[in-house]
Amino acid sequence: MSDVFGVIGAGTMGNGIAQVAARAGFDVVMRDVGQEFLARGMTSIDKSLQRDVDKERLSKDEKRAIMARIKTTTDIGALSEAVIVVEAVNEDLKVKTEVFRSLDEVTKTDAILASNTSSISITKLGAITKRPDKVIGMHFMNPVPVMKLVEIIRGAATSDIARSKFGRQCVRIRNDHECVPAGDTFLDVSRVVRHWSYANVFHQDLRTAPANDAEEDVVRLRPLEGDLESKAVSVKRKR
Ligand SMILES: NC(=O)c1ccc[n+]([C@@H]2O[C@H](COP(=O)([O-])OP(=O)(O)OC[C@H]3O[C@@H](n4cnc5c(N)ncnc54)[C@H](O)[C@@H]3O)[C@@H](O)[C@H]2O)c1
Repeated sequence: MSDVFGVIGAGTMGNGIAQVAARAGFDVVMRDVGQEFLARGMTSIDKSLQRDVDKERLSKDEKRAIMARIKTTTDIGALSEAVIVVEAVNEDLKVKTEVFRSLDEVTKTDAILASNTSSISITKLGAITKRPDKVIGMHFMNPVPVMKLVEIIRGAATSDIARSKFGRQCVRIRNDHECVPAGDTFLDVSRVVRHWSYANVFHQDLRTAPANDAEEDVVRLRPLEGDLESKAVSVKRKR
């Protein structure tokens, strides 16, 4: 049996993470709160892999083997053998708090607990557990099978050992240069996206917004159209 990789949440990010982990050879256990969410997640994975089969980037047998490596469950206890668990539930501190508390109870004491959060402090999530040294951010981009970059975010208490063990697991899924460190308490790509979109909004509104009101106007404006994350990633890579 291969190392067990846990994924909490079978939504947009969770099912993508489960897919790339299974493709990298991990035995994946994906947990959600209802069978309907798990079924939807598995359908997404199936469709995504089928696209690769159709384009002859993957054989039918490889697809079958990848799908077979993903087990689904509503039971958090099924994560007990995982060496690493990535949480990808809704961006809500209350929901994530409950998940981290439960994971801390059911997983082995040396398992690494990671979060795919875009904005919640990893230090805060680590403090919910009795193992803040083994809590880390693993920020995938959407869509996960396509967007190769993964940001690794350390909390204030994340240990060097956990960071390096985690780095090795990340490299099993992505190439070395795609597992990039980001700031401890916030995410670099998210920050680039924010600045990039603000900069564009400012650019559009400079003529109409009075200087003192500019900041407030920026916050009220609707998001710009287009794939902001892709643009942010290409900005980051050109640096
Ligand atoms: N969608 C994106 O573009 C994107 C990009 C980067 C990071 N993120 C982050 O990834 C995380 C997940 O985002 P998403 O877009 O996949 O959300 P989503 O709404 O698509 O999926 C969330 C899933 O979590 C499940 N869930 C809720 N509570 C749960 C629990 N206690 N246990 C197990 N599953 C539970 C829900 O049923 C749902 O299936 C968020 O923290 C988000 O900020 C999202």
